[in-house]
Amino acid sequence: MLKYLKKYWFFALLAPLFMIGEASMDLLQPRLMSRIVDDGVLGLNHGGAGDLNLVLTTGVRMIGFVALGGFFGVMCGVFANLCSQNFGNDMRKDTFRKIMSLSFQQTDQFSTGSLITRVTNDITQIQNLVAQIIRGFIRNIMLMGGGIVCMMSLDLSFGAVVACAFPLLLVCVVFFISRVNPFFSLLQKKLDRVNSVMQENVTGSRVVKAYVREEYEKKRFGDANQELVDTQLRILTIFSYMTPIMNIVLNLSVVAVIRIGAFRVQEGAVTPGNVMAAITYLSQILNGVMMFAMIFQNISRGMASYRRIREVLDCEPAIADGAGVADKAGAGDETGIADKPDAGDLIGTVDGTDIAGKIGSVDKVGIVDEGRISSEGKKKGGRIEFRNVSFAYPNGSGETVLENINLTIEPGETLAILGATGSGKSSLVNLIPRFYDATEGEVLVDGRNVKDYRLKELRDKIAVALQKSELFGTTIRENLLWGKGDASQEELEQAARDAQAEEFIRSKPEGFETVVAEKGMSLSGGQKQRLSISRALLKKAEILIFDDSTSALDLKTEADLYDALRTHYKGVTKIIIAQRIASVKGADRIAVIDNGTIAACAPHAQLMETSEIYQDIYKSQLKAEKELDMEVLGEAPVGEPEVKAQAEESVREPEIKVQAEAQAPDMRNGEGGGDHE
Ligand SMILES: Nc1ncnc2c1ncn2[C@@H]1O[C@H](COP(=O)(O)OP(=O)(O)O)[C@@H](O)[C@H]1O
Ligand SMILES: [Mg+2]
Repeated sequence: MLKYLKKYWFFALLAPLFMIGEASMDLLQPRLMSRIVDDGVLGLNHGGAGDLNLVLTTGVRMIGFVALGGFFGVMCGVFANLCSQNFGNDMRKDTFRKIMSLSFQQTDQFSTGSLITRVTNDITQIQNLVAQIIRGFIRNIMLMGGGIVCMMSLDLSFGAVVACAFPLLLVCVVFFISRVNPFFSLLQKKLDRVNSVMQENVTGSRVVKAYVREEYEKKRFGDANQELVDTQLRILTIFSYMTPIMNIVLNLSVVAVIRIGAFRVQEGAVTPGNVMAAITYLSQILNGVMMFAMIFQNISRGMASYRRIREVLDCEPAIADGAGVADKAGAGDETGIADKPDAGDLIGTVDGTDIAGKIGSVDKVGIVDEGRISSEGKKKGGRIEFRNVSFAYPNGSGETVLENINLTIEPGETLAILGATGSGKSSLVNLIPRFYDATEGEVLVDGRNVKDYRLKELRDKIAVALQKSELFGTTIRENLLWGKGDASQEELEQAARDAQAEEFIRSKPEGFETVVAEKGMSLSGGQKQRLSISRALLKKAEILIFDDSTSALDLKTEADLYDALRTHYKGVTKIIIAQRIASVKGADRIAVIDNGTIAACAPHAQLMETSEIYQDIYKSQLKAEKELDMEVLGEAPVGEPEVKAQAEESVREPEIKVQAEAQAPDMRNGEGGGDHE
């Protein structure tokens, strides 16, 4: 925590200094009050003659001190806030950066709701604690210490009262704080839960409505909320005993001071004004103790929050940069990238702007033009090799998802991956950009183990389009530019054209400047997919991975897309996960994944002859295709491809949506957890 405070030590020092000023003014008041009573009103030093003048001048001085104290107080508040707010800001930024650098497995473990609570509420708690310590700590020490000294200087017998009351209050505070302490971490956990349910429901509101689950979800939220309230009430109940008990002690002490004071006045040892001052000091002292109780309460709450933040900050990213070998091609470029990126750079990776264009931009242009790279004899990148790869999800049930995979994909090759849902297709491709690490064996890209790459370097080579397209609430242009920050309008249009997205973008009145709703809610499934494909194409990486990212496209659009891929992205290694054989027939090879193993891998024609499992899939799909075709033909006149294509899309879309929802539980996993909804 000190690390964050160090930067603002100046404020952290100034604030208490001003606070000393303010507290001193407070401590001066009872003395002056005592003079007004003794000399001004009772006229003890003038044989009983009051002195109105003295009352007035002392009164004016008191007002002056109050004003000065107020000024010190304001200054203290300003500096304390400057310090604590900046402190919180730094900590929040660091925590966010850390979260961005964690692997999917790690963020899954924390849960999204909890991470949000940590970045917001927990940091606010710590921030408040810092402000309170800076302001309150000094103030209360001054009031207590100074108060005791001032009081004893009036008459030592008053000290006896403090000596009795002070320990009593201290025991009381310690007792209550220790009772309440364990509940603070619990409270934050309950808050996590409320946030999680809330967030699930807001993002999943469409599904909730579709399945008429509102009542159930309301109850689920109600339960989480009730638990939060219960915990809060337990804390408050304990505290509600504390204040009255402390008040009783305080009032008894005042009575004691008056009693003792009365004797001492009779004895002539103290004046009535002194007794009044003693009472004021006493309440200042005991109020100081009470305030300390509050501070301790906040310390224990703030520390619970601080531990939660530390948990995140101390988390070592499970998937860290490799050594990063300087590449032969364009070593100059590479040195810039090989610098150890700090946390800030990781954010840079997310918007992925600066580097995409840097690495071998010559190659990339070649690819767009006409896939010339090989013919010009440039370095051909994009070779992928799986060597005896087995994989189990680190936080899953431990069962092997992939087993002993051996597969080599040559640069420029198109490999289709086919298999039932849950067979491990997504898991397989997730190993290439290192969304997860293989449990056994190794994954190599261009002959180098993926673990040896800098993450940035590796992920720059790869463009991924996921089945569930993640779009952001900004313009279409901005969304696409994630692929390549400095892309020109032509590149942008070309990518959109290849992804078959140009037409629908143009049909929007604002074209590329159309603002997409949060998470792309304002677009249809197929439109979202085409945008995310455009984004991947624009990146012009050496490796292109489509994880079921054409599932919401009709066959004709899909075929056009693959045509464009064949002609314009010749040199790019393409891995296409698909459900329909019809969409992938043209691939160089088709790998059939069955239960985590590669059952067969060959071109379509060969598989049709040799692979039983492939034939089965083919037959079942052909049958379904025919049935579907008949339905469509029954509704739409033959020979009008436009209408037919549309009808197909409208038939398919709802079907696909239902399917997607039915798979919902493992969908977020299937995409490598990249989407935290
Ligand atoms: N993040 C995850 N954590 C644990 N298990 C997962 C995760 N993602 C997927 N799985 C499991 O791994 C298996 C393969 O999933 P996946 O690769 O997504 O299949 P496919 O893409 O072929 O539909 C499934 O049984 C699924 O339940
Ligand atoms: Mg999948």
